Amino acid sequence: MKMENKQSMLRDGALEGQVIVITGGGTGLGRSMAEAFVRLGAKVCITSRKLDVLQVTAAEIMKNTGGTVLPVACDVSRSQDVDKLLETVIANFGKVDCLVNNAAGNFISPTERLSSKAFETIIGIVLMGTVNCTLAFGKYWIAKGDKDKVVLNITTTYAWTGSGYVVPSACAKAGVLALTRSLAVEWAKYGIRTNAIAPGPFPTKGAWQRLMPGELAEKFDMAKRVPLGRVGEHHELTDLASYLVSTFSGFMNGEVVTIDGGEWLKGAGQFNPLEQLGPEMWDSIERMVRGAKSA
Ligand code: HXC
Ligand code: NAP
Repeated sequence: MKMENKQSMLRDGALEGQVIVITGGGTGLGRSMAEAFVRLGAKVCITSRKLDVLQVTAAEIMKNTGGTVLPVACDVSRSQDVDKLLETVIANFGKVDCLVNNAAGNFISPTERLSSKAFETIIGIVLMGTVNCTLAFGKYWIAKGDKDKVVLNITTTYAWTGSGYVVPSACAKAGVLALTRSLAVEWAKYGIRTNAIAPGPFPTKGAWQRLMPGELAEKFDMAKRVPLGRVGEHHELTDLASYLVSTFSGFMNGEVVTIDGGEWLKGAGQFNPLEQLGPEMWDSIERMVRGAKSA
């Protein structure tokens, strides 16, 4: 579940001098991005609700890399917490260059079983959390006249396809997608670029426990849904994220980069299930279809 490839596609020091805040940075993909950014020379603040988890992660990354990681407790669904987070980051680093909105909450459930509070909770973390952080950091950058700033949102492919059984998350992620594309245009004049990543299945404890508990992991083998026949590796996502937060992606704005091995397109293409047919079946089908011409 952890990033195994210690080599980045970017050269050493590519993020030197940058200060990056990652929400949900204590676990899973957030943690992997934090380690990758620090290896490239960035100073990183990781934030989430559980300070004990953040402190352990920060200590491990600093031990692994010799870099700087600041753990700060913050519930992104509470705007007062987010204001304090920003103050703490500025007090410690004097500036902030990039915000990665990665924190999320999710679980599977038939929608008719959900309360209004269940929707509120997920939308509160995913959409309002992203809004709260983006507003606080964006207003700060705009007021200071700072340029060359980056917001990177982590969304998912069902932001545009929708998906049953994770409906609060789908609604919230669709909102994050709209926010990404809207601010990419509105805030470009302030020197703020806004992009997003839509990952396919990347195994993490947080996602797998809530989305594929018990036997579901075997029943719905995620690798089988992916044309490339496997799930993602964390270093593949962290390389993309490193590029998007770096100055090398300076002309990318409003883009949502899908990294899913072709998963969502496989589900979308009407005739893609025909991939299950073997050569003999195709011979027989060809005879039937060609025969239809003379009928
Ligand atoms: C129905 C549920 C429920 C369930 C919670 N609720 N779990 N309803 N089925 N399984 C309801 C509760 O009853 C309550 O409503 C409301 O939701 C809030 O629940 P709480 O437990 O009080 O909320 P909280 O303590 O804030 O916990 C939030 C959480 C939790 C989202 C439920 O799982 C969490 O902290 N998750 C953070 C990490 C996470 O989810 N990571 C996965 C991200 S993966 P009532 O009305 O009863 O009060 C991801 C991947 C996307 O996003 C794509 C994958 C391919
Ligand atoms: P994860 O490890 O569970 O990460 C979610 C993080 O969000 C946790 O660290 C959690 O920490 C934090 N968080 C939850 N509620 C919060 C709140 N109110 N305030 C601040 N932080 C909060 O899961 P993951 O798989 O790495 O997911 C990371 C991102 O990738 C998410 O945006 C997810 O939707 C996206 N994604 C993942 C996959 C995948 O296959 N893994 C696929 C598509 C998209 P605390 O509990 O300490 O707050």
